[in-house]
Amino acid sequence: MCTNVKVGFVGLGKYLPENRLTNKDLEKIVDTSDEWIVARTGIKERRIAREGEATSDMAVNAARLALKSAKLSARDIELIIVATITPDMFFPSTACIVQEKLGAPKIPAFDISVACSGFMYGIAIANQFVKSGTYKHVLVIAAEKMSSVTDWKDRSTCVLMGDGAGAAVLGKVADGGILSVYLGADGTKGNLLKMPAGGSRMPASISTVEAGLHYLKMQGNELFRHAVKIMAEAALKATEPLGLKGEDIDLVIPHQANLRILHAVAKRMGIDPEKKLYLNINKYGNMSAASSAVALAEAVEEGRVKKGDTILLDAFGAGLTWGAIVVKW
Ligand code: UT7
Repeated sequence: MCTNVKVGFVGLGKYLPENRLTNKDLEKIVDTSDEWIVARTGIKERRIAREGEATSDMAVNAARLALKSAKLSARDIELIIVATITPDMFFPSTACIVQEKLGAPKIPAFDISVACSGFMYGIAIANQFVKSGTYKHVLVIAAEKMSSVTDWKDRSTCVLMGDGAGAAVLGKVADGGILSVYLGADGTKGNLLKMPAGGSRMPASISTVEAGLHYLKMQGNELFRHAVKIMAEAALKATEPLGLKGEDIDLVIPHQANLRILHAVAKRMGIDPEKKLYLNINKYGNMSAASSAVALAEAVEEGRVKKGDTILLDAFGAGLTWGAIVVKW
């Protein structure tokens, strides 16, 4: 392992479907209100993929922009990782579908199923491959069509989710780059957020469809408590070994599940949410793995991340899984 190699983000891209679903629209579908959704989650609207638009379509759109911003073509990429829990189909992997659509050569391509922390795990894997000298450029895409696993009759979950994709090209950088990576998982709490049917435990059947078991099921309240605790702990685990404190971080770019979770995490980290917390949950809701990928691309696009800044990516989700990454930009 060439540990002196610095690995960083050399290209970023994002794609959001055009179709906006506002809280007012949701008021017509389920017993909810704009006031409740904004107060409890911070979400005002979310994007919904058009009919026939699959996760790989969104992934490819984000990937093309990431390649363009890296000034690379699909031929320059040596590995494709797609983080998704809403693949086009069980197999072949969405990464293989993306490889074909991008016209990339016969490079390795695979999906990872890490729910909302998928972008963190994808970056962690890419970081290892570039650091070791195995590959020069790795494409990491986080793409989700959450609307395809959402029960539009369940007000406790359907107001939360959105569709979208973010992509990053990782490669060698001259200065800065990824300084630390911290990942974790706790399978004992897997029941808090899951899609029960469609796998080998409960294959798709008329009765699983009738029982709505192909929709995500969430115990929101308990998950909320774990999210706050674990995201704050993950931030600490990623920053402490570098001797960094909350005040040393220029911007925290978190997974966007709930505004109240993020404010609580900022408080535990001792950072001012107004200045140091990147938020776009109001526009997109929770896009699972795509949330932090889109947030990173957007924060950079908006000039919120400057050369030399120390940023913290922090995510938590089903599994349970989590990950925090410190990057010097
Ligand atoms: O992506 C990573 C994993 N995800 C998370 O970490 C999400 C974590 N959880 C949450 O964000 C929050 O728990 C929710 C936003 C899902 C729910 O907020 P809450 O403050 O925990 O609400 P609650 O589930 O305790 O429900 C409070 C009340 C209930 O009514 P009663 O029993 O008090 O009469 C719900 O039935 O709010 C009701 N409610 C709603 N009311 C209007 C639940 N959903 C809605 C709704 N509109 N959409």
